[in-house]
Amino acid sequence: MAELVKIFDTTLRDGEQSPGASMNPEEKIRVAKQLERLQVDVIEAGFPISSEGDFQSVRRIAREVKGVEIAGLCRTDLPDIDRCWEAIREAEVPRIHTFIATSDIHLEHKLRKTRAEVLRDVARAVAHARRYLENVEFSAEDATRSDPDYLVQVCRVAIENGANTLNIPDTVGFTTPEEYALLIRLIREEVVKNNPVVLSVHCHDDLGMAVANTLAALREGARQVECTINGIGERAGNTAMEEVVMALKTRKKFYGLETRIVTEQIYPASRMLSKITGVVVQPNKAIVGSNAFAHEAGIHVAGVLKNPLTYEIMKPETIGLASNLIVLGKHSGHNAFRDRVKALGYELDDAALNKSFKRFKAVADKKKEVFDEDIEAIVADEIFRAPDRYHLISMNIATGSEMIPTATVQIELEGKILRGASTGDGPVDAIYQTIAEITGTKAKLLRFDINAITGGADAQGEVTVRLSEENYIAIGQGAHTDILVASARAYINALNKLEHLKHRGAEVRSPGL
Ligand code: KIV
Ligand code: ZN
Repeated sequence: MAELVKIFDTTLRDGEQSPGASMNPEEKIRVAKQLERLQVDVIEAGFPISSEGDFQSVRRIAREVKGVEIAGLCRTDLPDIDRCWEAIREAEVPRIHTFIATSDIHLEHKLRKTRAEVLRDVARAVAHARRYLENVEFSAEDATRSDPDYLVQVCRVAIENGANTLNIPDTVGFTTPEEYALLIRLIREEVVKNNPVVLSVHCHDDLGMAVANTLAALREGARQVECTINGIGERAGNTAMEEVVMALKTRKKFYGLETRIVTEQIYPASRMLSKITGVVVQPNKAIVGSNAFAHEAGIHVAGVLKNPLTYEIMKPETIGLASNLIVLGKHSGHNAFRDRVKALGYELDDAALNKSFKRFKAVADKKKEVFDEDIEAIVADEIFRAPDRYHLISMNIATGSEMIPTATVQIELEGKILRGASTGDGPVDAIYQTIAEITGTKAKLLRFDINAITGGADAQGEVTVRLSEENYIAIGQGAHTDILVASARAYINALNKLEHLKHRGAEVRSPGL
C-alpha cells in the first residue's frame, strides 16, 4: 500500500507574495473553493497579522471552506499567534503555523538575536499556540543555510513544546536534491525518531530545483509538501503542486507514495489562478503549460496517433484538460452550457450562469464554434469582476494609417453618464486616455497583454492589464471578439479592482517575510 503524502497548499500566502499576484477577498475565496475541490489536505489561507485585509480573508476562508485544514501563518511573537488563532478558530480543523529563522545570517542581520534567544522564542511560541489547539506546525526559516546541529536543537525544542508538524524550508532556493535529502535524513534520525510528528518540506525555486528537492526529501521520509498552484511564490516561486502530484502519480512504483488530490481539478485550478492574478503560465511549463501535451514534430505526431503511449507519459484528461471534442455553438441550450461550465471546474450561482449564458449566445452568433477556452474567458470575465463602480456603456474608435486615432467613450458612474473623447498613439492608447480623463483616475499602465483565445480570424481576444495607483496594483481582464472592446473592458475591470483595494485599505503585499 502506498503511503499518503499531505499536500499543504500555500498559494494564498506564499503564492500571493509573488510580485503582482495579490488577490482580493472574493478572489481568495474562489481559489480556496477550488483547493477544496482539489482535495488538498491543508490550505494556508494567509498571514493574519500582516494586514486587516489578510485577517478578514483568512477568517472568511476558515468559516466557509470545509473538509480541509485551514492554517494561518504567524511569527513567534505572542500577539502574532493570538491574531492567527482569532482568524482560524472557526475552521473545521484549524492549524497555527509559527516560524522563525534559524540561520546565523538571519539571526545576526534580520532578527538581531542570539541562538539562545531564538531557542527561547521557539519554546514560548509553540507552547503558547498549544494552549489554543493541538495542531501546531513549526518552521525553521532558512533551515538549509542553518548550522545543522543548531537546527536539530531548534527542532527538538519545537517538538518538546508540542509541535506536531516540523517544516524544514529551503527559503532561498539554495539547496540541491542530494544535500536536502541528507538534511531531511538528519532531522528524521536525530529529531523525529519515533515521535508522531509529520516532517514537512517547503522549497523555493531560485535555482530551478524546488520540485526535485521536494521529491528527494519525500524519499527520505518527509510526508508533507508545501507548494502552490503553478509554482507561484516569492521571487522564482515555490514548489509547483501539480508537478509533485503528477510525479508521484506517474512514478508511483518508484516513489510508493500517493496524495488525495483529485488530479482532474489541476488544470481548472491552474487556469483559474492565472485568470485571477494575471500571471500567465509559460507555454512549456510542465503539466499545465499550453504546450505540455502538444506534439509538433511529424514523427511524434505519427507515434501519438498510433498509440499515445509512444510520447505521452500522462493522459491529458488526468489533469482535467478537457478535450475539445464537444464544441458548443449557437444551437446549444442552457443545460449544455451549464454542464460544460461545470466540467471546466467553475461553480456559478444562477445569476452569474445566466449572465454568462447570454454572453455565450452573443459569441455563438458571431462564431461558428465556441471552444472551451471561449467559455472559460466568458465565465472568468463575468465572475472575476470586482463589484463594479465604473460600467462601460459604449465606445467608438476612429483610426487608420493616415489619421490620429480618436476614441469616444461613455461610462456610467453611480447613475451618471461620463462622456469624452481623446486621441492617442494608437487606438488602445486613445481609449485608455479617454477613460482616464473622464473618470479622473491617475492609474499607471504597467502591463498590457493580448491573447487570441482560440485559433481563427473569428477568435475572441483576451486582454489582461496591470494598473498601479499609489501603493496598489490591480489586474483587469476583458474578453470580446473585438479586441478594442476587450481592451476597454480589461482597463475598466482593473479600475474597479483598484477602487476595491483602496476602499479595503489593504496592503498590497504581506510585510515581514
Ligand atoms: O520560505 C519560507 O521559509 C517560508 C516560511 C514562512 C515557511 O515561507
Ligand atoms: Zn516560502
